[in-house]
Amino acid sequence: MAIVATPWMGRRDVVTALSAAATSLILPPLPGQAQSALSPTPRQTEGPYYPRDWQGDADNDLVVVQGETAKAVGQVVHVQGRVLDLSGQPVAGAAVEIWQCDARGVYRHPRDEGPGRRHDSGFQGRGRMLADGGGRYRFRTIRPVAYGTRTPHIHFKVALPAGRSLITQMYVFGEPLNARDGVLNGIRDPRQRDSVIVRLEPADRLEAGAMTATFDIVVG
Ligand SMILES: [Fe+2]
Repeated sequence: MAIVATPWMGRRDVVTALSAAATSLILPPLPGQAQSALSPTPRQTEGPYYPRDWQGDADNDLVVVQGETAKAVGQVVHVQGRVLDLSGQPVAGAAVEIWQCDARGVYRHPRDEGPGRRHDSGFQGRGRMLADGGGRYRFRTIRPVAYGTRTPHIHFKVALPAGRSLITQMYVFGEPLNARDGVLNGIRDPRQRDSVIVRLEPADRLEAGAMTATFDIVVG
């Protein structure tokens, strides 16, 4: 960029123009260079209730279970997002799994269930799908609830076609227990912690009484 100093330009104007020109020379990325560098989504514990049983209905609609008349108890939430690499490019074909407890706080897992403690048979408890060509995934599930000392959360496991995988948890903005949850606050960096907390927004146009949440997952 050529800087032409005109008679009405003061010394400061010339310096500012030169500085702007230098910045514009630095900013544009080279062809093929990453446009942006993202931080990987923080890893979180898998916890004791990773599903043992993926037989039967394990699709991305956890609110309806094949063969069950009643749908899941709880508020419906449509969780959607993209799987991205560190440069912000979508990862096509990533396998995305989620699992969470039912509206009464019971996991579909033998370690959590027992006599008199059964999971909601109308809630699928876990689901999986492959991200599309744009890295997009979506699940229809219920708003997560608190149990024990845990603030509401949904577990995620993302497996990339290249073989790497990431296990994390998604949290809900505004939940009062977030401030005291040991797993969530194990993420010490506030920006990293905020990256796993999502806002629920009303989604009545999508489904009456439902909410929507967007959770992009960056795999390093
Ligand atoms: Fe959990």
